[in-house]
Amino acid sequence: MKANELRSKFLEFFQSKGHAVIKSAPLIPDNDPTVLFTTAGMHPLVPFLLGAPHPLGKRLTDVQKCIRTGDIDEVGDPVHLTFFEMLGNWSLGDYFKETAIKNSFEFLTGKEWLNIPVERLAFTVFAGDENAPFDEEAYNLWRSLGVSEKRIAKLPKEDNWWGPAGQTGPCGPDTEMFYWTGPMPIPEVFDPKDKRWVEIWNDVFMQYNKTADGKFLPMEKKNVDTGMGVERVTAILQGKASCYDTEIFQPLFEELDNIRGITAPAERTRSERIVVEHMRAATFILADGITPGKVDQAYILRRLIRRAIREAKQAGVTVPFTKRIAKVVIDNYCEAYPELKENETMILEEFEREETMFKQTLENGEKEFEKFISRVPAHIQNKVVSGKNAFYLYETFGFPIELTVEMAKEKGFTVDRKGYEEAFHKHQELSRKGAEQKFKGGLADHSAETACLHTATHLLHKALRIVLGDHVAQKGSNINAERLRFDFSHPDKMTPEQIAEVERLVNEVIQKKYPVVCEEMSLEDARKSGAIGLFGNKYGERVTVYSMGDFSKEICGGPHASNTGDLVSFKIQKEESSSRGVRRIKATIGFTAKEAK
Ligand code: ALA
Repeated sequence: MKANELRSKFLEFFQSKGHAVIKSAPLIPDNDPTVLFTTAGMHPLVPFLLGAPHPLGKRLTDVQKCIRTGDIDEVGDPVHLTFFEMLGNWSLGDYFKETAIKNSFEFLTGKEWLNIPVERLAFTVFAGDENAPFDEEAYNLWRSLGVSEKRIAKLPKEDNWWGPAGQTGPCGPDTEMFYWTGPMPIPEVFDPKDKRWVEIWNDVFMQYNKTADGKFLPMEKKNVDTGMGVERVTAILQGKASCYDTEIFQPLFEELDNIRGITAPAERTRSERIVVEHMRAATFILADGITPGKVDQAYILRRLIRRAIREAKQAGVTVPFTKRIAKVVIDNYCEAYPELKENETMILEEFEREETMFKQTLENGEKEFEKFISRVPAHIQNKVVSGKNAFYLYETFGFPIELTVEMAKEKGFTVDRKGYEEAFHKHQELSRKGAEQKFKGGLADHSAETACLHTATHLLHKALRIVLGDHVAQKGSNINAERLRFDFSHPDKMTPEQIAEVERLVNEVIQKKYPVVCEEMSLEDARKSGAIGLFGNKYGERVTVYSMGDFSKEICGGPHASNTGDLVSFKIQKEESSSRGVRRIKATIGFTAKEAK
């Protein structure tokens, strides 16, 4: 089964079970300052998992683009990816374990769906601990569907618990489904430690809300959240050991071969895999409006592109190549993700710019390396590049250790890999602590302030279009407890008069106390009604449109204030450049103004 068929079967199945298909949210979380990227299908849905009503109802399904950078250094082996697509379905306070498990079983084993023989499957359930009991219900449900008790493992929290994505928020036990990828006969007893059993799906039963003081409070409305990785499951269903061997990556490898003027090798190298994986991820991040830079998402993007460039060099690429691979990514995915095509020119330009710039850095790094080795006297027998220096090359010039080792070898040196690993882990530990800091405060504060700031963002967007012109388009949005941040396309610094006029318009709408109206309609009708927002997506034919009087109409998933009057007042605190052709505004509303930074 090809990835395309898997995606459409999944959505079709859950539609047949009454789920509305929603579109993939951007990779950059909209209202959540606690994480850099959308890491799971549930992530953009947190406000609804916490109880806000979703405009499309209580049963949802989608294909969500995700980025996880935790394993970035593992990419290149056959299984790890930074970018992946997650199939998911949700019950927002509607059905719970029984229906979820029965649906999963039917989709996996049903003849018209994945048609996997039950003998090939195994399951895990939560064993229970001091916070929550053994998930007996899940266990019994699998048994009632004909699963042998030898194929159900009871595992602790490390394995069978999901969330919260931040330090607080919805969480609960999960049940995971595994597929036997080894040779026949299949072992009768499921050993979860045997790597030939590969996880293919995860049903999370969100029944607790973890609070800041570490308590697990039962949630009034329980949710189901499931996740299935498209790349992994496609490979498994095709009997391939690696997702790199599926049609998902083939066109990218082929273009890499064309660029090098070679015929396809029998096996792909680690470098080749890194090139195609990172290029795919980087293309998607660029399409969501991030450009390479020094912090946060922009830094991750830069790191991905630079690593792809270095590895391409290792793989024998001697000419500029990033635009060509990006073009293949865009062409392959643009039907499902139209933002790729819409931003094609920008994406290709950014790749070109970064590639040209990095060539220089790479040369500087090589010079630095020459300096290190020239300091070692020629008569020394065991010539070693220290771990500290190897890590410096990695950190400052983005040299992978393999590259340093190879360059060292050419000069008759070895590299102190142990020292390098130590420096690396020390650094990882520091960045992990940094990441935890970022998570502090828990996953998205979805209080009234957040909803009001979200509403203010719509008003700001519209006011900017009135004052500056229709070329203003949203390039990014981020909300924390104190302020909103809005990035938009506009070539020049705004004048004080323009800023004052935007503020005046927004405050006028606030004073008019318009009710915020939410309507569901087809994309076509939304377009006709003059709604602004991100148009065009294959799956989400029905969209929700939020209107505020006759002032603003915008496609959006919410949540919002119920009345513009709830915002009290609006003030632009800062207007600055964000990146080329993109301005950034930070603004506050009445009750957040005093705390604004
Ligand atoms: N949110 C769950 C996961 O990512 C389904 O596995």
